[in-house]
Amino acid sequence: MEREGPANLPPNLEWRGEIPGVLRILDQTLLPGRVAYRECRGPEEVSRAILDLAVRGAPAIGLSAAYGAVLIAQHLLKLEVEDFRSRLDRQLTALAAVRPTAVNLGWAVARARRTAGEYGGQGARATATALLRLARTLHREERDTCRALGDAGAELLPRRGAVLTHCNTGYLATGGLGTALAVVYRAHEQGKTIAVYADETRPLWQGLRLTAWELSRFGVPVTVLCDGAAGALLAAGRVDAVIVGADRITRRGDFANKIGTYPLAVLARRHGIPFYVAAPLSTFDPELDDGSAIPIEERDPAEVLSPRGLELAAPQARAWNPAFDLTPADLVTGIITEKGVLTPPLAEAIHSLLPAPPGEGERSMA
Ligand code: MRU
Repeated sequence: MEREGPANLPPNLEWRGEIPGVLRILDQTLLPGRVAYRECRGPEEVSRAILDLAVRGAPAIGLSAAYGAVLIAQHLLKLEVEDFRSRLDRQLTALAAVRPTAVNLGWAVARARRTAGEYGGQGARATATALLRLARTLHREERDTCRALGDAGAELLPRRGAVLTHCNTGYLATGGLGTALAVVYRAHEQGKTIAVYADETRPLWQGLRLTAWELSRFGVPVTVLCDGAAGALLAAGRVDAVIVGADRITRRGDFANKIGTYPLAVLARRHGIPFYVAAPLSTFDPELDDGSAIPIEERDPAEVLSPRGLELAAPQARAWNPAFDLTPADLVTGIITEKGVLTPPLAEAIHSLLPAPPGEGERSMA
C-alpha cells in the first residue's frame, strides 16, 4: 500500500500475503534504538502486541484489531471448526477488551462483526477474505483521514511558530500521517516553519522515544521537555498552540488522552493559549455523553517504579499508574477532524457530525 511521509520511515503496520497471511507490527517498545517487527500469525500475538504497546495510539490500535479479526478468522479456518461464527464472535469480544480506553478498538471490532455477519452464511474462507478486505479498506481510508485532518489543522497555525504536544500522535500511532502530528506535518509540507515541543510523556516516554524520532525523520525541529516543564514553557509564551490527540471523545466533547493531557489543558487556559484536540471521527464515542463514563486503563505500577527494569523507587513505595486522564470539553478550543475544525459549543458541533448510536445489529452477529 502506498504510504505517507518520507521514505526513511519503516511501515508501522503491514499485512503480508492473503489468507493465510501475516500481520507485521513495528515494535514500538524498541524504538528509537531498534527497528524490528513482531510477526503476528494468530490472534494471541496481536492481542499481546496491543497490550505491550508494541502497537499503540488509538487509530493504530483500531487498525491492528481490524487485522486481528482476520487473524482470528484464518486461525479458525485452519482448525476447521464447526462453530466458526460463535467462536469468531467470542474471540472478537476478547480482542475488543484488550485495552479499554481507545474507542477505536471497539469501533474496528464492531466493523469486523458487521462484515462477518454479512459474509457468515458463505463460510469461513469467505468471511476471512471479507475481513481482510475490510482491514485494507480501513487502512487506506485512514491515510486520507489523517491528511484531511492535518490540512484542516494546518490552517490554524501561523507561518512561523511553535506547538506543544504530548505522547505520540504521529504516523506511528495511526495508519497515515497521524493526528496532532499530521497537523504539524501538513503545515511543514506547506512551507510553514513550525517547531515542536514534545513532552517526554512519562512513564513510557512516547514523546521522548517516538515523537522525537519520527519528527526528526520528517525534518521537523523538535525539543523534548520533562512533562513537569510544560507550565514554565507556556508561562514563557514560547508556544502558539497546544495540540494533542485523543483516545475517546464523548458527544459533548469531553475526552480521554494520555495521562498528563488534562494539566496541559488547564495550563493553556491559564495562559490564554489555544488548546486543540486532533482526532478522526472513529475516536468519537456516540454512546457516551459524559467523560466520567470513559473507562480509564490502569497499568502495572512497575512502569512507574522501575522503568525499563531500572529499580529507581524505594522498595516500600507504591505507584498509581493511570494510562489516561479526562479533559472536560470546556477547556477545549477546538477539535480538529477530517471534516474540519469543531468549535464550541462542541456538543452541537459534534451532534451535527456523528452518526446515530449503533443499533443492536452492529453489536452482535447473531
Ligand atoms: O498508551 P498509548 O501510547 O496508546 O496512548 C496514546 C495516546 O494517548 C495518543 O495521544 C492517542 O491515542 C491519540 S494517537 C493518534
